[in-house]
Amino acid sequence: MSGLNKIIINLKKEISSINNIKKLNIFKVKYLGKKGYISSQFLLLKKLTKQEKIKKSIIINNVKKQIKELIKKQKNKLEFNDIKFQVLNKKIDISLPGRYIKIGNQHPITIVINDIEKFFIKLGFKITASQEIEDIYHNFDALNISENHPARTEQDTFWLNKKYLLRTQTSNMQIRIMKILNPPIRILTSGKVYRNDYDKKHTPMFHQIEGLLIDNKINFLKLKGILSLFLKYFFKKKFKIRFRPSYFPFTEPSLEVDIMRENNKWIEVLGAGMVHPNVLSNNINLLNYSGCAFGIGVERLAMLRYNIHDIRLFFENDIRFIKQFK
Ligand code: PHE
Repeated sequence: MSGLNKIIINLKKEISSINNIKKLNIFKVKYLGKKGYISSQFLLLKKLTKQEKIKKSIIINNVKKQIKELIKKQKNKLEFNDIKFQVLNKKIDISLPGRYIKIGNQHPITIVINDIEKFFIKLGFKITASQEIEDIYHNFDALNISENHPARTEQDTFWLNKKYLLRTQTSNMQIRIMKILNPPIRILTSGKVYRNDYDKKHTPMFHQIEGLLIDNKINFLKLKGILSLFLKYFFKKKFKIRFRPSYFPFTEPSLEVDIMRENNKWIEVLGAGMVHPNVLSNNINLLNYSGCAFGIGVERLAMLRYNIHDIRLFFENDIRFIKQFK
């Protein structure tokens, strides 16, 4: 044991003269490294008998532990000295106030999505997610959007390659849902969609909520009823609502809903329609079932509810803006 004590005393001496982290690392490698002192001691054990091996390895492990502790202590000491040096030499101004991490707030878009989902859950809709990276088939082809439709051009769509793109609409979920579920279907999806647009009213990424309802007695009247109820629920106050005939390749007939703003101007808030037979026939028996679908622009509704005039405010992440919403 006296030999062991000697080693430790020598190590203590050696380490106490180390005055920077770099040298301390060299010391560490010398004693604890793969080819260091401790490893070489373990190698020597090979020649010993089993009894001696056990005895000696306990001692070596003990030394190893002590070396580790010495290194840790010296490291703390060096770091402390370093801070002390910096403080004394005024490299750190300890009189500066600390940095506070501001507590965030639920984003207005999240608040609006949650609120809309709450309404549709009450009507029996189930919430599901769908992918943002989509293939041409689910975003366009299967939705009856012809090959020369302007939406397919590079100006309007972010293409990843010839086959994949960032979805331009949450309608991409329609086919996926029809393929995995049997009617009756009541599904709602919310999420990000992407279009190559940027101004006061458009951002390249925005949010939509898509509803799909397939059952044996779905008709246009039902769709209009659901949408009127929803808008009444969402805005709490009475807005004038207008259903306007429209066109989407994947619904027939199609409509858009406008609401009247305080300045007596109509503004479009959602698109909807009866699911087109070409789309529905993907996996649904047309003799027994019909369906309707709607797509809600989340930012549009949020802007109307909170009286916001520039959509870009939503994505600047200015906490003073975001904090205003509950
Ligand atoms: N996907 C359409 C759009 O982005 C909206 C829509 C959804 C229309 C479902 C009809 C049915 O404009």
